[in-house]
Amino acid sequence: MKILLTGGAGYIGSHTLIELVKAGHNVVVVDNFVNSQPEALRRVAKIIGHEVPFVEADIRDKEAMERLFTEYQFDAVINFAGLKAVGESVAKPLEYYENNMNGVFVLVDAMRRHGCKSIIFSSSATVYGDPAIIPITEDCPKGQCTNPYGWTKSMLEQVLMDVQKADPTWNVVLLRYFNPIGAHESGLIGENPNGIPNNLMPYITQTAVGIRKELGVFGDDYPTHDGTGVRDYIHVVDLARGHVAALKAIAENKGLAIYNLGTGHGYSVLDVVKAFENVNGLKVPYAIKPRRPGDIATCYCNPAKAKAELGWEAQFGIEEMCRDSWRFQKNNPNGYEL
Ligand code: NAD
Ligand code: UFG
Repeated sequence: MKILLTGGAGYIGSHTLIELVKAGHNVVVVDNFVNSQPEALRRVAKIIGHEVPFVEADIRDKEAMERLFTEYQFDAVINFAGLKAVGESVAKPLEYYENNMNGVFVLVDAMRRHGCKSIIFSSSATVYGDPAIIPITEDCPKGQCTNPYGWTKSMLEQVLMDVQKADPTWNVVLLRYFNPIGAHESGLIGENPNGIPNNLMPYITQTAVGIRKELGVFGDDYPTHDGTGVRDYIHVVDLARGHVAALKAIAENKGLAIYNLGTGHGYSVLDVVKAFENVNGLKVPYAIKPRRPGDIATCYCNPAKAKAELGWEAQFGIEEMCRDSWRFQKNNPNGYEL
């Protein structure tokens, strides 16, 4: 298929680009580098052995989107472009709503005008709020999000469902990611957060490499097996392959389709720290800190629907995730800075 990959220079986008190209798809990447670097695309080119067509643009730029859809006849769009830092979204709600919502409005309007009516959207487990059912199935009711970032995901799901309802010839695939970690096995690309990491794994790897003094473990009094928060960590390469598999829902004209992309296994913060230490032969100093506002105790999914309908299931376990996260950090102590 001919695919437009927005946000393709980012963490999940760059890994997905590789898997799409490996599966034989023709991909064009668009990104404005608000949270990524051109170096990521150079490294992808090194891994796959050639460059991929790239347009530097903001997806909110109507003229740029018009030019893009005029130049290429896309069969489908995979939309990763969006801002994703939970804490920053609390401090800058308007910027988050504007970028994430308006980006999709402009993109989908261009798609509609050019007859490209298939989109895969990066959603998140955050739309379940404090989940009503564990393990979470796709028919678990959506919940209250605790931050503007989460609401952009929840609201954009609704927007895209309404677009599909108004014109059932659309294919809308909503992929609800659980917690992506890990990196490509080459060690060339991986997660490269700006500033102090919000998420667990980059904080662990930066502590292990000596950039941070110690990991703060946010709460040890949750109702979990060791008191620390439990999440469904998924290797980013498995997640990337989930997007290739999701194209099947488009090829089969499924209309609206919603899938959880996770492994179905829950690991606590301390489980992850221990797995990381064991696999990599390192110590990660940590201290127990108060709970982080907005966090929930437990979040993991039942990924059976994606397996049954897309033939997709995660292949990698927590050891591979920890090994590959560390390989990228070790090889790139300053991220993509050369
Ligand atoms: P990322 O920040 O690494 O990638 C997003 C990319 O989009 C970046 O390269 C950024 O420069 C680009 N971008 C942002 N706004 C843009 C705009 N207006 N126009 C053009 N490009 C723009 O993030 P990621 O971790 O790769 O996440 C990809 C998507 O998946 C995001 O939508 C994110 O919200 C979603 N998601 C991520 C996680 C996670 O834990 N990483 C979990 C659930 C959902
Ligand atoms: N944690 C720590 N210390 C840290 C960072 C995190 O103890 O320095 C803990 C958290 O309290 C939580 C677990 O590690 O128990 C995972 O936290 P992350 O911030 O890595 O991930 P979250 O589950 O909070 O959120 C992530 C993404 C959201 C997304 C959500 C569901 O950041 O964008 O997964 O997909 F919405």
